[in-house]
Amino acid sequence: IPLENYRNFIIVAHIDHGKSTLSDRLLEITGVVNPHAKNSQVLDKLDVEKERGITVKAQTVSMIYHYRGEDYLLHLVDSPGHVDFRLEVSRSYASCQGAILLVDAAEGAKAQTVANFYLAYSMDLKLIPVINKIDLDTADIPRVEEQIENMFELPKDDIVHLSAKTGKNVKYLLPKIIESIPPPLNCQRDAPFRAQIVDSWYDSYLGVILLINIVDGTVQKGSKISSYRTKNKFEVKEVGIMYPDRTPFPKLVAGQVAYIIPGLKNPNDVYVGDTLYDSNFSVEPLEGFEEPKPMVFVGAFPTQGTNFKKMEESLNNLFLNDRSVTFQRATSVALGQGWRLGFLGSLHASIFKERLQKEYGEDLIITAPTVPYKIHYKDGVEQIVSNPDDFPDSLEKTKISYFSEPYVDAYMSFPKEYVGKVMQLCNANRGAQEDIQYSPTGMVFLTYSIPTAQLIDDFFGKLKGVTKGYASLDYEDAGYKPSDIYKLEILVNGEGIDALSTVLHKSEINRNAKEFVQRFKKFMRIQQFEVVMQAKANGRIVARETIHARRKDVLAKLHAADISRKKKLLARQKEGKKLLKSRGQVRIPPQAYQAFLRRQ
Ligand code: GTP
Repeated sequence: IPLENYRNFIIVAHIDHGKSTLSDRLLEITGVVNPHAKNSQVLDKLDVEKERGITVKAQTVSMIYHYRGEDYLLHLVDSPGHVDFRLEVSRSYASCQGAILLVDAAEGAKAQTVANFYLAYSMDLKLIPVINKIDLDTADIPRVEEQIENMFELPKDDIVHLSAKTGKNVKYLLPKIIESIPPPLNCQRDAPFRAQIVDSWYDSYLGVILLINIVDGTVQKGSKISSYRTKNKFEVKEVGIMYPDRTPFPKLVAGQVAYIIPGLKNPNDVYVGDTLYDSNFSVEPLEGFEEPKPMVFVGAFPTQGTNFKKMEESLNNLFLNDRSVTFQRATSVALGQGWRLGFLGSLHASIFKERLQKEYGEDLIITAPTVPYKIHYKDGVEQIVSNPDDFPDSLEKTKISYFSEPYVDAYMSFPKEYVGKVMQLCNANRGAQEDIQYSPTGMVFLTYSIPTAQLIDDFFGKLKGVTKGYASLDYEDAGYKPSDIYKLEILVNGEGIDALSTVLHKSEINRNAKEFVQRFKKFMRIQQFEVVMQAKANGRIVARETIHARRKDVLAKLHAADISRKKKLLARQKEGKKLLKSRGQVRIPPQAYQAFLRRQ
């Protein structure tokens, strides 16, 4: 098949607008899958994806379509819809020349459609607008058409109306793809081999499998190729296309998005976005390599009696298929040895938190999520701190100039009657309004800049709460902004407890401090002596709770008149307590931390 007959495209859609259903229909029409075998949703493969019904990893599937006497090779590249996976998303988009903008006929475009539209548009992809679910009684096609025309500036006449579920009109889509999306003509088949790794996954039998976008040349079994990033050389064991599963092919050529098996056993040897090239030549790397940047961190600590080594091995295996999770050892005075895990965003973190809890249950304590904060020193040095315990106690005026925290641009869409409540919520979360648009479908599209820390504090849950579940949310990393943030530390009889520190904005310190000490108090058993729980921020005590001692009645057996003896005993008891206190011998049972952290 000549390069002119290749088409690489992606489907851009909001969750549940029918991306997977439409993909299945396209695969049926092109004979890749049998319409009678109910193996629906070929593209979503990972277990996490199945459980959550969302796509986390990039996938691709190839189709051959016969049109006007010629064969066309189509690559449908599927990418995560969620912006936590922005790097994966943009890499998938980069391997395509066109995108189907899929909108639900009843719901109209929503937050995720908008965010992904901007990305596709900025990458110069040819857009084909499609209205899906025209079979629904609630479909309001004229209004959705108007919305597509207004918001995306795409002509009404170009819109394809179809029902992915019933299959109606789907057959008109493939000719449209062939006619309007350009082939990947920037590729050179005669040049030395060069490709970008779009995704990688791990098979316990075959080892690492790579999904690659071949930009130049050809590759086949036995080809000797190198990684630009690691300089490792390897011999290709197998090449093929996803049709819909791995189907070996004698040779892959420029313009294809396909898989290769490099014969690597260690997934850590592979970097998504890296350039692969013919070992006999030296080449320029392809653009688009970026290290995944974790934006949400949690601590994970095994409870007493759990085998640390074994758990570490097991966690390592869990993360083999998701290289974007960062994983480091960490030690806490309170909780012992454990790990600090980094995730790309809050959705990513919550997926894994759920998995970890399912898999390890009571054996693993997971601390509250935090974002990476930045410390700006006066000498211009910047330091990123992802563990609140490492955050300075106060602004050391001599060295530190200021702190900053990460922000996102949050795109929200919801029916217009909720606009007041949503703005209130955003303002309460330290947001700043950036844009508002009213759509003919009765929806409002609102953009706010809000701190990532607020976003990961169940912002979506709260947003759904104030809109009776009607809101949708998407967001994009918007860099760091200076912020008045402090470490809030919990002290028990004057000693800090490391695993309980948090970093908070000035405006939230007092309320949180009070709540924190009150809550922690409940988990402490009454001791022989007085226990003082304090919350400290910026060098000051901001909240305090006292747990009174259980007084041992040393006087019980004394006669009422024996005053001097009484005084002596009481004095001795007081001394003893002082001694205990000064030694800081407050016994905090690990269960107290665990119970406290589980409640967060
Ligand atoms: P994610 O994988 O979560 O991103 O969702 P998706 O966009 O892939 O949506 P999916 O294809 O899973 O469809 C979501 C729901 O809409 C399913 O219950 C489909 O059966 C339904 N659906 C898809 N297309 C149509 C359609 O044309 N008409 C009707 N009535 N329902 C449809």
